[in-house]
Amino acid sequence: MSCINPPCLSVGGGWFRLTTLQTAEVAAQESSTGMPPGLEQNVVVLGSTGSIGRSALSVIEHDGGIRLRAFGLAANSSVDALIEQARVFRPRYISLSSPEASARVDAQLRGTGVELLGSRDGIIKMVQDPETDKVLSAIVGAAGLEGTWAAIEAGKTVALANKETLVVAGPLIMELARKRGVTLLPVDSEHSAIFQAMRAGQPKEVRRVILTSSGGPFRGKSARELADVTPEEALKHPTWRMGPKISIDSATLMNKALEVIEARWLFDLRPDQIEVVIHPESVVHSLVEFVDGSVVAQLSPPDMRLPIQLALTYPDRVPGPCPLLDLTSPFALHFEPPDRETFPCLDLGYEVMRRGGTAGAALNAANEAAVARFLASEIGFLDIPRACRAALDHHHYDPRPTLDALWRVDASARQEVRRWSRT
Ligand SMILES: NC(=O)c1ccc[n+]([C@@H]2O[C@H](COP(=O)([O-])OP(=O)(O)OC[C@H]3O[C@@H](n4cnc5c(N)ncnc54)[C@H](OP(=O)(O)O)[C@@H]3O)[C@@H](O)[C@H]2O)c1
Repeated sequence: MSCINPPCLSVGGGWFRLTTLQTAEVAAQESSTGMPPGLEQNVVVLGSTGSIGRSALSVIEHDGGIRLRAFGLAANSSVDALIEQARVFRPRYISLSSPEASARVDAQLRGTGVELLGSRDGIIKMVQDPETDKVLSAIVGAAGLEGTWAAIEAGKTVALANKETLVVAGPLIMELARKRGVTLLPVDSEHSAIFQAMRAGQPKEVRRVILTSSGGPFRGKSARELADVTPEEALKHPTWRMGPKISIDSATLMNKALEVIEARWLFDLRPDQIEVVIHPESVVHSLVEFVDGSVVAQLSPPDMRLPIQLALTYPDRVPGPCPLLDLTSPFALHFEPPDRETFPCLDLGYEVMRRGGTAGAALNAANEAAVARFLASEIGFLDIPRACRAALDHHHYDPRPTLDALWRVDASARQEVRRWSRT
């Protein structure tokens, strides 16, 4: 992902200060670390207790304080995990969105120097802090939009994992980023791959991008076989370990639908330039085809720490904690077209991408509500696309919504799916 060609990258991060710091000592340290001392980036991790958040902290830990510092950590209600992170990383701030969880924290932070910020406003305060350089947006769902918006408004570079932000409000977010001169750096492995491959040519030379999908745990199954699958079966992803919502999205292929929309906004592509291919090994993370027929891909073992690290250290590449691709023993890579009939969520994504307006907000909210109901065993796996279809069909479509209008659509689509039953 990315709107790429960053207009203001590194200005806030201090790289340009380098030119005035060329002492022998600095030069020596630079040559070993690639980074001058004291110029580490202050990173706010929104969603620090989740799968992406924990991987990001592993990257920051591996960095050892050379380039990256955990400056703020935000979660919803995982008190114990957040306290533990605060003890290890000693950020300036932490916040919990749940007021009940927040109330349990104060005493445990005594003596750590870490400040607990009040629930909802906490995220806004930490991303707006003048000392914050970069914000990793890794809260799950539309709940991640507010913090991402605040970070862009404050002019911070955003490493974007929360794809739902762009599904709900792509045009408004990209417009805001343009106005503030803010760079959105991709974290999703597919969009990071496209971002990297695109550097092989110019944007006008791109014919199409091809997003890869593992196919999820139910690749090759028929609709009949999927009728009775359980949440436990759907959560078992073959190649990635992720949070529950994105794991179910991967099983339905809704994740790919959301990623198609994300790619459209990040890379300013037409819907007909975005394709999806199933690639079970999850080694080729995506491909870009240029007008001359060259196809450039990015390969690495499936490990989210790689795209997270690249987004946090960009424009530099540095050694990290990820395993390397082993080409010494034989292995095969497979590609096949997606089964759109059995997994209709993918086409819902294409439809929504073409419609624009409020359609993304309706689909995203409906999907979040349907996934929650599936995980609670209230509806079946195949009901997820059905409930989303119903919410999309019934929502009051607006081609040019404001942010407030998008939140209204979000609320009514959730309500519709909470009441939805198969007729
Ligand atoms: N996991 C992956 O490999 C992966 C890959 C690409 C993109 N992504 C995207 O990254 C995002 C995060 O995914 P994930 O798998 O890391 O999810 P996850 O494991 O479920 O973690 C979600 C995180 O968000 C926090 N959170 C939820 N609601 C919140 C709220 N209202 N306020 C503050 N924090 C809140 C959670 O806090 P608590 O722990 O307190 O609930 C947790 O830290 C999603 O948008 C996903 O699509 C994930």
